[in-house]
Amino acid sequence: MMLVSAKEMLTKAKAGKYAVGQFNINNLEWTKAILQTAQEMNSPVILGVSEGAGKYMCGYKTVVGMVNGMIEELNITVPVALHLDHGSYDACYKCIKAGFSSVMFDGSHYPIEENVEKTKELVAVCEEKGLSLEAEVGAIGGEEDGVIGSGECADPDECKMIADLGVTMLAAGIGNIHGKYPANWKGLSFETLDAVQQKTGDMPLVLHGGTGIPSDMIKKAISLGVAKINVNTECQLAFAAATRGYVEEGKDLVGKGFDPRKLLAPGVEAIKATVKEKMELFGSVGKA
Ligand code: 13P
Repeated sequence: MMLVSAKEMLTKAKAGKYAVGQFNINNLEWTKAILQTAQEMNSPVILGVSEGAGKYMCGYKTVVGMVNGMIEELNITVPVALHLDHGSYDACYKCIKAGFSSVMFDGSHYPIEENVEKTKELVAVCEEKGLSLEAEVGAIGGEEDGVIGSGECADPDECKMIADLGVTMLAAGIGNIHGKYPANWKGLSFETLDAVQQKTGDMPLVLHGGTGIPSDMIKKAISLGVAKINVNTECQLAFAAATRGYVEEGKDLVGKGFDPRKLLAPGVEAIKATVKEKMELFGSVGKA
């Protein structure tokens, strides 16, 4: 199956009261692990690529080539969207040109008027090409690729303004943070989420910072209109812990244990287990 826009999978998710996971990719192992798990779970999936990860993987064209190649070679038949995560205005255009099927324009740091203007332009471009577009209102807290947000809650009226421009999905800050949550985290603001959903109706809402949000909060967020949940750090932590275990047990020193295909295998299995657990929690299993 070819890459698809995220529109249909998210419209179905919002109507069916479940969420599709966006799992960020960093390399071949990550991509393969996520695609294979999605296929096994018969779940739609969104592969997220931050600008930094795109650079690391030798540019967006390399990423598109790798993902398309894997979809074909691994016989992936579930819907897969390849999505730019927190893209700048320029990066959106680069990814559209390279063959991504979905982009996020993160204009949350612009004054609302400028965010509106740039989003409007990108809505027209994406519509013409059949791509999905995510917009953001209210900065997501924490640090991602050097972009630091303070975790403010979005203004529901601004959310409506951006949603009305015709974006496919909307990320609204509701006290969520990228990376690990601090011990004194106050939790998600369901009051904000409820107000945003009331103003934006059928618009699939996006929850960033999926790592470490307790299951009951995830479920409540889905019940209030969240249809896409982004997970990045949790796969990284699982990969690192499993790789550390392998090396600490001295397995790399036994036989051909140094072979990258052996050395990275426990980490890959850990990513798969994390993705599976999230798909089950989000309710997307069997929804391909
Ligand atoms: P985490 O790294 O906290 O899972 O957040 C991922 C994310 O929101 C990507 O946009």
